[in-house]
Amino acid sequence: MEPLQSPANKIFSLVRLTLLVSVVVLLSCFVLSWLVLSPPAPSQSPTPIVEQKKDSLWHAPDLSLLDQSDSAELIRYGRSLIEKTSAYLGPEGSVGALSNGMNCQNCHLDAGTRPFGNNYSAVASTYPKFRARSGSIETMEKRVNDCIERSLNGKPLSNESREMKAILAWFRWLGSNVEKDVSPLGSGLVSLPFLDRAASPENGKILYAQKCTVCHGREGQGQRMPGGPGWFYPPLWGEHSYNTGAGLYRLSRFAGYIKANMPLGSTFDRPQLSDEEAWDIAAFVNSQPRPTKDLSADWPDISKKPVDHPFGPFSDGFTEAQHKFGPFKPIQEKIKQRSKKA
Ligand code: HEC
Ligand code: HEC
Repeated sequence: MEPLQSPANKIFSLVRLTLLVSVVVLLSCFVLSWLVLSPPAPSQSPTPIVEQKKDSLWHAPDLSLLDQSDSAELIRYGRSLIEKTSAYLGPEGSVGALSNGMNCQNCHLDAGTRPFGNNYSAVASTYPKFRARSGSIETMEKRVNDCIERSLNGKPLSNESREMKAILAWFRWLGSNVEKDVSPLGSGLVSLPFLDRAASPENGKILYAQKCTVCHGREGQGQRMPGGPGWFYPPLWGEHSYNTGAGLYRLSRFAGYIKANMPLGSTFDRPQLSDEEAWDIAAFVNSQPRPTKDLSADWPDISKKPVDHPFGPFSDGFTEAQHKFGPFKPIQEKIKQRSKKA
């Protein structure tokens, strides 16, 4: 016969069980809190950009200062056109079907006010200005239409249209705290140092799948706005994307844009991509198919082409492939020496 458990024995095994359960619970708590609280691996925190000079960054004027006057109304309309371009000028736009359905704000973040988010702080202060791409003095109107015809792969707005006047009113108001000829810190895009090697589309493809596909799609097709015009996540290549004449088609511009702004949530002082990752992703995305533009009239003085303008003829003897992917340092070096001799 089995010996019956005495009451004392029963209590003893109960205590043992309780102790065991507590130890397991405590251990799980430790492991969980370690997982949640431990700092991210070093590869997740690439070097910040201009951390030290943050105080002197440009800030947009305060929107609440705008009154109800007609001129303030025009400024607000300009802001709205930058933010929701597609609703006015996209394929189903209320003003006219002029462009590809992207918004200016997709590339000029927060309506063109974010530091290193391609902001418009220097537009009113520096235009009209000579631009080597067109070989002419460009007005603000011309510069707006450059982006409509290239980045939005569309047809130009008339200079007399209320839309053009509104966009310019927004730029002038944004620049009202900037002196003539000054480009404030944080205007435009970050310029990343050149790599010692050519940027790698193969490496970029792997990184794209890890860091960009969730929003921009496997085929770079983006995601449409549910039940409305335009894009929830804008396309990065294909028929609805920017064309080969756009600023982002140059590797340095694309890499600078994403370094400070992508994946979504990144900022110039909290970037998530290393410089190498930014260059390689740029090389991958800009190797995918997209609309083309006749660029034969661009850069009438070919010696003024930027090192990463990927279309010949060139005055420096380097190939189109090297002008597209790099390495850019040898090109830059040759241009420097040439200008020393001249
Ligand atoms: C696909 C991205 C993209 C879109 C969309 C886009 N732009 Fe741009 N834009 C750029 C890039 C890139 C630059 C050049 C930045 C640089 O080189 O620093 C630029 C430059 C500009 C500039 C000159 C800024 C300066 O300081 O010199 C103006 C003005 C401008 N864009 C207006 C617009 C307007 C208006 C729209 C919408 C109708 C628009 N852009 C849409 C990418 C874009
Ligand atoms: C969480 C979603 C998300 C992720 C992840 C993300 N993006 Fe974006 N991206 C956006 C959104 C949203 C915009 C438009 C921002 C706006 O309009 O304010 C955008 C805009 C862009 C643009 C300019 C507009 C265009 O379509 O050309 C580029 C270029 C871009 N992203 C590249 C990338 C790259 C490269 C990665 C990966 C390193 C990435 N993004 C990861 C959401 C994302």
